[in-house]
Amino acid sequence: MSAVAPSPARDGRPVIELRRITKTYSRGEAEVHALRGVSLVVERGDLVAIMGASGSGKSTLMNIIGCLDVPSRGHFFLDGVDVRTLDEESLARVRNRKIGFVFQSFNLIARTTALSNVELPLAYAGVRGEERRKRALDALAAVGLADRAGHVPSEMSGGQQQRVAVARAIVTNPSLVLADEPTGNLDSASSNEVMGIFSDINAEGRTVVLITHEDDVARFAKRVVRLRDGNIVDDRRVTPVGAPPPRFGTATRDVAVGAP
Ligand SMILES: Nc1ncnc2c1ncn2[C@@H]1O[C@H](COP(=O)(O)OP(=O)(O)OP(=O)(O)O)[C@@H](O)[C@H]1O
Ligand SMILES: [Mg+2]
Repeated sequence: MSAVAPSPARDGRPVIELRRITKTYSRGEAEVHALRGVSLVVERGDLVAIMGASGSGKSTLMNIIGCLDVPSRGHFFLDGVDVRTLDEESLARVRNRKIGFVFQSFNLIARTTALSNVELPLAYAGVRGEERRKRALDALAAVGLADRAGHVPSEMSGGQQQRVAVARAIVTNPSLVLADEPTGNLDSASSNEVMGIFSDINAEGRTVVLITHEDDVARFAKRVVRLRDGNIVDDRRVTPVGAPPPRFGTATRDVAVGAP
């Protein structure tokens, strides 16, 4: 890795730190202010849902966090590293090793088995042969699909395909998993199944940030951040479904952490 500027010392370095991030697209003469100065800190092990109306900047924010796009202004620290200091090669390595991506449309390779789909990021990372196969099978087992390893996507339900995509996202053992509307194409039963898996991988210590339009999906999160017109307008800690109830008090959904 190239020389990196650490963020100010913190106890338990946050996995994501955005400081006054703006993103402006030019569209002919017009400028679109997709993000207008977003500051956000995500600690390791959190499960964050990003919500907001269409066009509010959710995907733009996610693409910056995933190092798929760069901000117009502001600083983004990933694991304490100022992403602007990384060259293309280091960025590609970060994307491959540190971050797992899940998309709304699964993005599986159609005529290829679940196993080969899950092996792909390992192939890019240079992992070979038996080791690659074993790790891909372990990832498929982690999403409950060990018995579907030899199936191609068209032989699987949407929920199963998305679980394969989650297996592909975690197979490199990334500390951060990003998902842009991972349940957008799924019925509610499959959505719950996929969200249960996100909860599981979060319980293993992975940080998960996902975009959703659905309250039913956001209720799996520990924190809900709302965007409006490129700004964070709400940011609160919540008690995710399946978690033990809080020991004190009865409030579960209104412990505001305040917008940074
Ligand atoms: N490549 C681009 N060029 C120009 N404008 C863009 C580009 N990408 C996004 N935008 C604009 O930036 C704004 C934010 O877009 P973004 O895709 O982040 O919204 P979103 O919250 O993800 O919406 P949705 O819920 O529909 O996916 C929108 O006004 C959009 O039209
Ligand atoms: Mg979007």
